[in-house]
Amino acid sequence: MFDFSSVDLLDAFTRELRLCKVTEGEHVVVLSEPASRGDYVAAAFGAAKALGAHVIAATVPGGSPAPLPSTHTGAGPGLRSVLADTTAQDLLKSADLVVDLTQEGFIHAPVQQEILRAGTRILFVCDAPDVLVRNLPDEGDKQRVLRGVELLKSSRTMRVTSAVGTDLTVQLAGSRPEFQTGFADDPGRWDHWPSTMVLCWPELSDGRIVLAEGDILLPFKEYVQSPVTLHIAGGRIEKAEGGAEARLLETFFADADDEWGRHLSHMGWGLMRSADWFATAMYGKGDLMGMDARAFAGNFLWSTGPHPVLGRESYAHLDIAMRGCTVSVDGTEVVTGGELVER
Ligand SMILES: [Fe+2]
Repeated sequence: MFDFSSVDLLDAFTRELRLCKVTEGEHVVVLSEPASRGDYVAAAFGAAKALGAHVIAATVPGGSPAPLPSTHTGAGPGLRSVLADTTAQDLLKSADLVVDLTQEGFIHAPVQQEILRAGTRILFVCDAPDVLVRNLPDEGDKQRVLRGVELLKSSRTMRVTSAVGTDLTVQLAGSRPEFQTGFADDPGRWDHWPSTMVLCWPELSDGRIVLAEGDILLPFKEYVQSPVTLHIAGGRIEKAEGGAEARLLETFFADADDEWGRHLSHMGWGLMRSADWFATAMYGKGDLMGMDARAFAGNFLWSTGPHPVLGRESYAHLDIAMRGCTVSVDGTEVVTGGELVER
């Protein structure tokens, strides 16, 4: 019996940490919980060491404050053990880079903002090994996503249409455009390996979103089987009509019983050309966060629930990835019929 999996991943983690600009003498903390992948902890530890950094592997108790199973949902609620422990928080704040290998990460936990404000960079990793390797970012990806961010910043409206009937108009004022590029290189930056996407946090959008067969519902990691029409008014889902998934979504909103559950939060488009739409079908749900779906080049990704720009704290977070949409920003098409447009 032998275990080579961490050694097998060492090269990918070393390349990834190099993209995160880990340099000799920096302090890297590899954060895990008991359910984290041990091979990732070892590979991240080895990669940091190979680059000459000081490295500490810190394992904290599991347990999430979210009323959801911790199955890589993307809700990012953090771990209770860190949220309640200032010593753990101080360790993370004192690091130059935290490699976050926890099951859910901290993206929607306010404490993460505090850690980032200390200048710490955070890289979140929780997809399957070959998903990480296939989607290893390229340094040039940052310029690609920044072009999208600039376009959103200088524009007033985003319009999303599709052949099956989507027609959504989104007000961009105050929507704080941002990006994910798969590596955390600047002080205070959080990022997610793998990811290449442009997104924003609008308040107001109106019209309808029509989910087509084969679109992907996250965190359920399920493909839509029959079309769903979502009626949107003032950034809120008024009604979901259609087949089985319409009923599923309505039940989710009702069960969540969350003030912000029906409100839209981030939305944008994917630029990750190496992404595989079928990865969602090929892995166990616990093996995957689903970044192939979320960052797929030419998708339209939108979500519900937590909205940091508007100060809405919520655990009822859906991410829905759609293909076949046309996304235009003040008349400039960035996605045409599901195909990414890059100039
Ligand atoms: Fe999300």
